Amino acid sequence: MNDQVTVVDHPLIQHKLTLMRQKETSSAVFRQLLREISTLLTYEVLRDLPMTTKAIETPLEPMDAPVLAGKKLAFVSILRAGNGLLDGMLDLVPSARVGYIGMYRDHDTLQPVEYYLKVPSELEERLVIAVDPMLATSNSASAAITRLKQAGAKNIKFVCLLAAPEGIEALSKAHPDVPIFTAAVDSHLSEIGYIVPGLGDAGDRMFGTK
Ligand code: URA
Repeated sequence: MNDQVTVVDHPLIQHKLTLMRQKETSSAVFRQLLREISTLLTYEVLRDLPMTTKAIETPLEPMDAPVLAGKKLAFVSILRAGNGLLDGMLDLVPSARVGYIGMYRDHDTLQPVEYYLKVPSELEERLVIAVDPMLATSNSASAAITRLKQAGAKNIKFVCLLAAPEGIEALSKAHPDVPIFTAAVDSHLSEIGYIVPGLGDAGDRMFGTK
């Protein structure tokens, strides 16, 4: 496996992911499971956050106690399915700043086109976590990360739920400086760009659309 990629294969994540994959799982349960998995993924993604210490007093004596260093994190959701990962991340880090990038696929060129961008200020000083549950072709993830870099981001991690080997290869070629975290790497992409075996269209399953 590409050493840019971390597969977070904790048993709880794998069990919940299996429930998500099943076609009979309802939207409500799908969303709840994604939220739970995203909290567990985030815990692992943030394992190496820089720390400092702060002078505090316990009821017994003063101590220098560990606290997070630096500016607040920025979580950036790639619309619309990224929003399903955002909730669980904010459960864990409620003070994080939040941004959104909207991309659609142009029917003629098949290339991603940006239709919305709102990101936190001072991106260059923050750890930026870009999220989209499905890393399929990587076209939109790659374009979103390019846009975040143009907006100043220097320290970016990408988090997804499922990845296709094709998506990992393309994203790591386009952005070799961006670590990729996923709960699983599936077999391949279908002819129409679905991850196989996958779980179908994550946005549709999350929001009950077709
Ligand atoms: N996006 C999805 O929602 N599902 C896939 O399988 C691929 C891209």
